[in-house]
Amino acid sequence: MKLISEEAWEDVIGYKPAHPITYPTPPGFDLADVSMWTKGHPFDFYKQLREEAPVAWFDVPEAQGFWAVTRYEDIKQVELHPEIFSSQMGGINMAYGKPNERHPRLHSATLNTLISMDRPQHIDLRMQHRDFFTPQYVESLRERVRGEVTRLLDNVEKNGPKTDFVKHFSTRLPLFTLCEMMGIPERDRAKVVRWMYYLEQAAALFSQRTKGGIPPYLFIMRFMWNIRQMFKYGEKALNGRRANPQDDLMTKIAQATIGDEQLRQEFLDGAWLLIIFAGNDTTRNSLSGTMRLLTEFPDQRQRVLDDPSLIPQMAQEAVRMTSPVIHMRRTVTQDTELNGQKMVRGEKVIMWYGSANRDPAVFEDPDRFDVTRANATDHMAFGFGPHVCLGQRIAAMQIEEAYKQILERFPNIKWTGKQDISMNNFVHAINGLEVDIRG
Ligand code: HEM
Repeated sequence: MKLISEEAWEDVIGYKPAHPITYPTPPGFDLADVSMWTKGHPFDFYKQLREEAPVAWFDVPEAQGFWAVTRYEDIKQVELHPEIFSSQMGGINMAYGKPNERHPRLHSATLNTLISMDRPQHIDLRMQHRDFFTPQYVESLRERVRGEVTRLLDNVEKNGPKTDFVKHFSTRLPLFTLCEMMGIPERDRAKVVRWMYYLEQAAALFSQRTKGGIPPYLFIMRFMWNIRQMFKYGEKALNGRRANPQDDLMTKIAQATIGDEQLRQEFLDGAWLLIIFAGNDTTRNSLSGTMRLLTEFPDQRQRVLDDPSLIPQMAQEAVRMTSPVIHMRRTVTQDTELNGQKMVRGEKVIMWYGSANRDPAVFEDPDRFDVTRANATDHMAFGFGPHVCLGQRIAAMQIEEAYKQILERFPNIKWTGKQDISMNNFVHAINGLEVDIRG
């Protein structure tokens, strides 16, 4: 297969929509400005967009502007029609930077990967991963996850009563689970956390540059070094699995094919980046988000304490409310219309999952955390359609196992109100969350 990075259409910087804008964009919040995201999702602005401008135009400095889609049903239409709204023709991120300013290997890996493919290659490659995402496999992991939750909570207790839940718990559990799936040895696991940190900070770097600021030199050096180490490690590990196959997800990726060919290095880089990114910080932020919600809605916490069998439903409701993945982008491949807005080939569409998940047309009283919500699993935090999250069962199992023990052991644990949210509009990245285990 040809490289997606060679075939995808480049962003047209400064592009303006071909057809008249149907719904004027309300002022007040710029979805494209990452510096505005440090307080989390702009739920009030989403509401305004859903009501007044469900398909709204936003410019992006140094990248192509996009149509922001905020209603649940419209997002479903986009997800279900990859032949019109392609992942492959322009990737899933809001912006890829100017060609001469990109990190070449990182740029290639963000495009040459499963999540940026359309059918038929997408389905074929996705199916080759399935053994590690079945309910049976998830159950086989559960016992190990349970043991790790106990160990981590021992550590939380040792560091308490007030401690950073992200540092001691929610960063560590997804890392453990993913490393177990991938077959990454214990001694190398801390490196993965560091790489994640630098990947998340890339958005902040980009923002400083687009605003005319100069990103700190030392940070850039560290960033470059860490990204280089990340790919070097993945390359060695994946090629090692080709020579010595093992019973792990890394081996599945190493042995995967597109057509009849083994994945070339660019696709191996992409698979490595996708799995460590997609599986790690999304679950981390769901675990932290759940803690926030249980603090903000004490009546719902009490319901779960009274009836722990509600925990699986609570996990889905917490993912709906938190919406850890903020957006995904698509590229229009043929002239079309969405909710009255005409679009032409080459234009970009961005789906805002946090808005779909608070759409009152689907979720009654959507801002309320309701652990008994009947349709909680209808949320779109895991996407929808052909690209729906492959790891959603793994994520849900971890939240369930975590909160069974957290609530049993520290029934009064609470978020103190202190948190640190990254400058990032792709993932709702909670970098710090102070809890008091005594309540
Ligand atoms: C709460 C945690 C998680 C959330 C919110 C989440 C969310 C998402 C979303 C929104 C997508 C894109 C769907 C689309 O384009 O329609 C996705 C895709 C994906 N996720 Fe997750 N994810 C989570 C956990 C995980 C975990 C734990 C793994 C792996 C262990 C994982 C692996 C993947 C992969 C491989 C894809 C690409 C699937 C494809 O393109 O066919 N995710 N996820």
